[in-house]
Amino acid sequence: MSCGKGWPEPIVRVQSLSDGGATSIPPRYVKPPSDRPSDSSSTSNVNIPIIDFSGLHGDSRIKTLAQISDACRDWGFFQAVNHGVSPQLMDQAQQVWREFFHQPMEIKQSYANSPSTYEGYGSRLGVQKGAILDWSDYYYLHCLPCCLLDQNKWPALPPSLREVVAEYSRQVVKFGGELMKVLSINLGLSENHLQNAFGGEDIGACLRVNFYPKCPQPDLTLGLSSHSDPGGITFLLPDQHVAGLQVRKNDSWITVKPSPHAFIVNIGDQIQVLSNAIYKSVEHRVIVNSNIERISLAFFYNPKSDLPIEPVKELVTSERPAMYMAMSFDEYRLFIRTRGPQGKSQVDSLKSRN
Ligand code: OGA
Ligand code: NI
Repeated sequence: MSCGKGWPEPIVRVQSLSDGGATSIPPRYVKPPSDRPSDSSSTSNVNIPIIDFSGLHGDSRIKTLAQISDACRDWGFFQAVNHGVSPQLMDQAQQVWREFFHQPMEIKQSYANSPSTYEGYGSRLGVQKGAILDWSDYYYLHCLPCCLLDQNKWPALPPSLREVVAEYSRQVVKFGGELMKVLSINLGLSENHLQNAFGGEDIGACLRVNFYPKCPQPDLTLGLSSHSDPGGITFLLPDQHVAGLQVRKNDSWITVKPSPHAFIVNIGDQIQVLSNAIYKSVEHRVIVNSNIERISLAFFYNPKSDLPIEPVKELVTSERPAMYMAMSFDEYRLFIRTRGPQGKSQVDSLKSRN
């Protein structure tokens, strides 16, 4: 059997394993005991902060800015409601992708991706032969910059998918621009500072739609292994029917309970570097379950990929020297694209030795 398209081994679609009705998972998906959901402490009575963004526009502005600031410092994660993205559009976006993943395999296979760009239909992150795999398939596509936007690489079916994804991208990018201003102000910078550091109008944006099929042995595996997001800010539209995302808080994992039409927003590694670690990208992972599939849309708001990203000068002082070396996002994301999700080891590898 050919491996095809530059992968080290033949690609197996997790959805096919799940649909085949197996009662156990192949050994490739079994995590070492310390990484299994059942073997690590998890907490269900705490939730990440929920922030009402309509508060930014009225008398509650100062209070809302403070809530966002605290969430970025203490959690690296929050849920945003009243963020300006249309709730109907969020539902449509979930729906078109659910339909995409429920099409026959031949149709999905025509979009099979390769590790050179990752665009298209995929089932693994990382190219290390023999790696333990995650229990998920995904679709990855570029929304910005315009030179990388090629709608022919987006699924043609269902018929409304391209239009829905284009409008969804436009609205999430707008929210992203507003949040970048808020983060800049909260860091004591001029409101356009972070956006300019990201390349102004020339930012990158991409969408990763995660599909987590039902799993016969959910206690032995993960839908997505622990990682921090390599980019700038992530806007996650979680499945409205089932929880799955867990966020690390100290030594325990908090399962996020999604609020209706909220985005789960998290700080990525590039903002950790620019903020000189005032804001941290926090580790998270996904658990799966045996009786219901799960779909999530992770929208990544990223810097222009060839700019050097380094701690903002205003945030570097003698008490707080620059914690990271400069690196472009192009160079940075090669780590995760080669080795797959590996906790926070990539951003830690940038630490300057001064
Ligand atoms: C991701 C991610 C979480 C989820 O795609 O980077 O963390 O709930 N997804 O699917
Ligand atoms: Ni993530």
